[in-house]
Amino acid sequence: MRRYSTLVPEVGLILGSGLGSVAASVEAALELAYSAIPHFPQSTVAGHAGRLVLGRWHGKTVLVFQGRLHYYEGYSLSEVTLPVRVAAALGAKFLFLTNAAGSLRADWQAGELMLIKDHLNFLGDNPLRGLDDARFGPRFPDLVNAYDADLRRYAREAALAMGLALREGTYAAVSGPSYETPAEAAFLRLAGADAVGMSTVPEVIVARQVGLRVLAVSCLTNVLAGAAGGHTVHEQVVQRAAAAADDLARLLAAVVARL
Ligand code: HPA
Repeated sequence: MRRYSTLVPEVGLILGSGLGSVAASVEAALELAYSAIPHFPQSTVAGHAGRLVLGRWHGKTVLVFQGRLHYYEGYSLSEVTLPVRVAAALGAKFLFLTNAAGSLRADWQAGELMLIKDHLNFLGDNPLRGLDDARFGPRFPDLVNAYDADLRRYAREAALAMGLALREGTYAAVSGPSYETPAEAAFLRLAGADAVGMSTVPEVIVARQVGLRVLAVSCLTNVLAGAAGGHTVHEQVVQRAAAAADDLARLLAAVVARL
């Protein structure tokens, strides 16, 4: 990276399913396919471009990972979280994440955005497992305020100013790639989750280990059965996320501009 550009990113951005177009308005100084980066895992999911974009966006230098890596693709959590370490190593201080998620709440609508305030890790794995090297940060990072309260306030204020409905809740991460059974959805709700998805939590854990301040927003693409919803159809998930991408981009842009 440093060989290609002297720009130092302030914000890393990892974009979820159907949400890659958030990067469209970045004034790109450098675009690199993941396949051109040695040792970098490849994005295997449709709807994930698999490209890194470095450039200026709303007055800040951003490093956008357009195409996320997921545990269900078969990658280890160390591979899944490599982008976070790359962003931090290049100088980023903030990490913004987006994802598509299923709503576990009957009173929330598909298409709405949810600010993540906390998480439940149901992956059965942790990206810090096996890693004991002080150069990477503490072995036992604290996860209180992992979803930075100030950044969440900026997002809430921006949403209010834009007239955009913004929910706030707890995100449960599961491995997928199958969607939840009605019993699993009911269990996750009972456990305290408002939304469920297959990403984000590993990246947040690593971000906190290396000291990045985190903002994460889910696009609620469906309401799960068990929470008054019906079948979950992948094409609909991607399509609903794409439909919300513009709102999400405006929201993140407003927060980036305030940093
Ligand atoms: N479950 C898990 N992951 C998801 C969902 C869901 O219902 N929707 C989008 N990502």
